[in-house]
Amino acid sequence: MIENALEEYPRDVTLKSGFTCQLRPLQSDDEKVFHEFFLAVPPRERMFIKHRVTEPEVIRDWCRHIDLGRILPLLACVDGRIIADASLHQQLGGWKRHVGRVSVLVHPEFRGRGLASALVHEIMDIAKHIGLEKIEAEFIGEQTAAIKVFSLLGFSTLLRLPDYVKDMQAVTHDYVLMGINLKTDEEYAGMG
Ligand SMILES: CC(C)(COP(=O)(O)OP(=O)(O)OC[C@H]1O[C@@H](n2cnc3c(N)ncnc32)[C@H](O)[C@@H]1OP(=O)(O)O)[C@@H](O)C(=O)NCCC(=O)NCCS
Repeated sequence: MIENALEEYPRDVTLKSGFTCQLRPLQSDDEKVFHEFFLAVPPRERMFIKHRVTEPEVIRDWCRHIDLGRILPLLACVDGRIIADASLHQQLGGWKRHVGRVSVLVHPEFRGRGLASALVHEIMDIAKHIGLEKIEAEFIGEQTAAIKVFSLLGFSTLLRLPDYVKDMQAVTHDYVLMGINLKTDEEYAGMG
């Protein structure tokens, strides 16, 4: 159950860089601060995000229909501001029910402090706790920094499809799928 996995939040964490922030799931009253967080994303990076996050209605809808068992947005906050978000998406049935999907975004002013690594690591712990077996993450080819962050966390590239996706200007880009197994070989062996 996701509720059990979330009992430890809100929680203050100090990153390797010495930077301290609070981690907690998205709440219904976050509408304004979550929108402000997305407005800080430089326009050239917006194509990395699948949703029209600069539109307040999109964020309002997310904050009004929170279902953490389906989408868990785990936020890093400082002084009432949201400075990073890593979301865990679950299928809740079907043949990808054991595979979670994670995405991460860090406020431009707060990059290079280990926030993305810490949040994705946290999401991996939650995913293990709730019994997911794999996590995947999707990128467009130009997201080299993000691909590096995930590689350092142990993700590997499962698939790269050249010119597979299109941005708002109809320009094509490579599609990259990365993934990690959460179960170790020993755990699989123990289940036999
Ligand atoms: C990619 C992104 C999430 C990284 O966030 P971050 O908090 O700055 O990353 P971290 O500080 O945790 O970086 C971890 C490691 O990744 C590497 N890394 C991070 N950003 C990098 C960059 N721009 N260039 C090269 N390496 C980078 C570094 O090796 C870093 O480790 P180090 O600081 O010990 O050297 C952030 O730049 C971002 O939000 N980008 C736009 C959105 C995006 O692409 N999201 C991913 C979609 S799934």
